[in-house]
Amino acid sequence: MAIKPVLRMGNPLLLQRAVEIADFNTIELNGLIQDMRDTMQAEDGAGLAAPQIGISLRLVIFGVTKNPRYPDAPEIPETILINPIITPLDEVKDEAWEGCLSLPGLRGLVPRYRHIRYSGFDALGNQFEVEASDFHARVVQHECDHLDGILYPQRIKDIRQFAYTEELL
Ligand code: NI
Repeated sequence: MAIKPVLRMGNPLLLQRAVEIADFNTIELNGLIQDMRDTMQAEDGAGLAAPQIGISLRLVIFGVTKNPRYPDAPEIPETILINPIITPLDEVKDEAWEGCLSLPGLRGLVPRYRHIRYSGFDALGNQFEVEASDFHARVVQHECDHLDGILYPQRIKDIRQFAYTEELL
């Protein structure tokens, strides 16, 4: 399909609440999913939300395969998640550095729930539910925030912990 340009912070579309998907397994939806896959792969991202390529629908994709560049990064199975609902399983939060394709070159220290359950629908409209922890849980929370118009800088507790990646190295 196609690699799409990723909208950057400041684009008003990234601040909107995205709309639920009603029709599954359509040519339009399957094409959108393929565009998101192509774009995420080209940009080497761990996840992508539909609003980031200009489509204000409640659809995210994410996944991390073993990468020799990041030998310590845990694997996350490739997942298509539509109309997601996240439920924290307890109150515990961790802080870790996050980046986002909509804020190239930047990182921020962001608190997220450590243990969550998320549910939603796959590309065919089958409902599913997963329990996730740590990095997996973080990626899901980050991507689903995009569907509510939230970018990670809004979650940073100490804005001094918001930086250019190159300066942190
Ligand atoms: Ni992002």
